[in-house]
Amino acid sequence: MKTRLHTRQTTFRQLEIFKAVAERLSVTEAAHALHLAQPTVSTQLAKLSEALGVQPFEQIGKRLYLTDVGEELLASTRELFDVLDRLEMRLAQRAGLSIGRLRLGVVTTAKYLVPALLGPFCKAHPQVEVELQVGNRADIRQRLQANLDDLYVFSHPPHELDIEAQWLTDNPLVVIAPQDHPLARRRRLRWTDLAGERLLMREPGSGTRHAIERHLAQQGWALGRTLTIASNEAIKEAVLSGLGLAILSRHALTHMAPGNLVELPVQGFPIPNSWYLVTPRGKQSSPIALAFREHLLVALNPRRSQPA
Ligand code: PGA
Repeated sequence: MKTRLHTRQTTFRQLEIFKAVAERLSVTEAAHALHLAQPTVSTQLAKLSEALGVQPFEQIGKRLYLTDVGEELLASTRELFDVLDRLEMRLAQRAGLSIGRLRLGVVTTAKYLVPALLGPFCKAHPQVEVELQVGNRADIRQRLQANLDDLYVFSHPPHELDIEAQWLTDNPLVVIAPQDHPLARRRRLRWTDLAGERLLMREPGSGTRHAIERHLAQQGWALGRTLTIASNEAIKEAVLSGLGLAILSRHALTHMAPGNLVELPVQGFPIPNSWYLVTPRGKQSSPIALAFREHLLVALNPRRSQPA
């Protein structure tokens, strides 16, 4: 027997509208993103609920929540659109076109790596639409768990999930200070020399913070005064203004750095760290995702041969 999802009562358009609302939990924002009028979105949602005989949302006060059945509908809708995306790409490939969507989820430090490599890729594949999500480790881990993107870049792949991780390149973490800081004149420092300094740390959920805490614990070093700032760029600015020192990716230091920040030669640093390309194990990658994966690996490891 056919379900109501198979009948003419439910359309892909309604599911697309549902997905847009469910991912934003806002009819207004979804209408804006889809370039539709708000009443159109509400009407299509009402038709979908009626056709399915269930309520995917509930409204409490002004806020919209997904019901359990709404969560399930969202997961299935994503799978459905993934299948359609792959079909579209396979059809486009048959026609000799390199077309489709590439969804990437990367941790904030990888924004010093990935966008630079996206440029040449997009030039070679001008019809590819790229969606790049940048977040801290906890945000990107959540996206990975919900299978929202094609490829992920992490420094600390979440091995507790069923994933495949491939080493990309080094991402050492270094101690940074303003150029005119008294410690910047020293040729050698120990961790204890930093004892009087405030350390600007990333927020809980950040992979950088996690790596620092683990390193200090391994060395048996104590963390003194700290201040939490949830952005590498804001930390750089704060270090520059004399608020304290920080431990950041060396790439964050050199990337568009104001020049007047320096790396301190502290014994036991840099903290060894690397970036990895991560996918859920067994994920059926789209041709575009496979092409970008190869592009990344070749760009970062030139000895890897280009596929014929
Ligand atoms: P994050 O990214 O500190 O923004 O989580 C860091 C990483 O894991 O490299």
